[in-house]
Amino acid sequence: MWRRDFLFGAATAAYQIEGAAGEDGRLPSIWDTYCATPGRVVNGDSGAVACDHYHRWESDLALLKQLGFDAYRLSIAWPRVIGLDGQLNPRGVDFYKRLLDRLQQQGQKAFVTLYHWDLPQHLQDRGGWLNRDTAHRFADYAERIGRELAGRVSAWTTLNEPWCSAHLGHGEGRHAPGLADTRYSVEAMHHLLLGHGLACAALRSSDRAPVGLVHNINAVSAASDSAADRQAARLAHACSSHWVLDQVLLGRYPEAMRELWPLAEPPVRDGDMETIRAPLDYLGINYYFRQVVKSDGAHGFVDAPLPGVERTQMGWEAHPDGLRDLLVEFRQRYANLPPIYITENGMASDDHVQAGRVHDEQRTRYLKRHFAAVDEAMRQGVDVRGYFVWSLLDNFEWAFGYEKRFGVVHVDYQTQQRTPKDSALALQAFFTRRAQTA
Ligand code: FCB
Repeated sequence: MWRRDFLFGAATAAYQIEGAAGEDGRLPSIWDTYCATPGRVVNGDSGAVACDHYHRWESDLALLKQLGFDAYRLSIAWPRVIGLDGQLNPRGVDFYKRLLDRLQQQGQKAFVTLYHWDLPQHLQDRGGWLNRDTAHRFADYAERIGRELAGRVSAWTTLNEPWCSAHLGHGEGRHAPGLADTRYSVEAMHHLLLGHGLACAALRSSDRAPVGLVHNINAVSAASDSAADRQAARLAHACSSHWVLDQVLLGRYPEAMRELWPLAEPPVRDGDMETIRAPLDYLGINYYFRQVVKSDGAHGFVDAPLPGVERTQMGWEAHPDGLRDLLVEFRQRYANLPPIYITENGMASDDHVQAGRVHDEQRTRYLKRHFAAVDEAMRQGVDVRGYFVWSLLDNFEWAFGYEKRFGVVHVDYQTQQRTPKDSALALQAFFTRRAQTA
């Protein structure tokens, strides 16, 4: 039984849905550049048009309301709202003001992320997250936009998934800016988290809404019971969960990271860890899958996917119990664990419209099983306050382009027609029942 104040929401991110990449003074971001680099994104896709949400936001928000969500998680495009001179761009800001005002009129809460990976390209040209100054530019953006949108936001998020920005973007080259060196990912992570800490203070000086960070986690299991594989799983788990959480909640860099990457030292200066450990009003958790690993024969780990398990269109293993177990583990590990929102959970499937319907049974089942996992964690004492499905709409899935469909609403990219999938209708029915019984 879900408490009435438990929030059910849907999530999106600016670059994945907005389009209008060159309109109203928006500057290029690292994702525009990455998409324009041959071979980086499937089919050479980009977010230039995406779901055209910049022009269709009114009908998209009407749909969000019609489906019965309590809340909406969106991100602000940094290059849309801050100009080259560091000042606000009023035309970009107005877009978000109108959108947030409409959400308020509709009685839906707004969870607003400042950085969902779209760094202005001109900052990348000066080193991006490898340059300590970017953390200060981020705090400056947070302060300006915080002041401008104060009173319209229910909760602020500084960064979405710094792990992906740092590791996929700088360690593996699978995301923008496309660098591939472990030392870069460790440096970028430090500057991202420093930016997070500085932005927490900036937001708190501008607005009264709660401030948090969103971190992606995945369950990790060892491929076998051998000591080497168990050690590999320990390091993989530290890399995916503790690398970020130990820093923001405990103010320390985990030893396991030094074991994993002995040559990569974060560029910590005096006082940085105190800044990074700024108290969080809440922690956002994004969860999708389990990773099974084995030893790489040296000091690291490699993926060793299990055969015969349920997988999604991404090839990710559906493993709801992992979400429950991780939440319970965090409660034990971090005495100061703040209230949690599941800020993303969902799956991609190869969905098609047939006679006006999209039969995505696997998604409905997936969501139900993850709701149950969250419920079990709450029964074991974890303070979870809300759950956001990823995503409201099918959208630009980063390096996978438009092939992977994560929406509960189908998007036909030729016509921009939206069709709620069966999973959206199931959620709508669930929200209606909940409202009647609360
Ligand atoms: C997360 C991202 C989100 C989306 C989902 C599938 O890592 O935050 O933008 O791409 O994965």
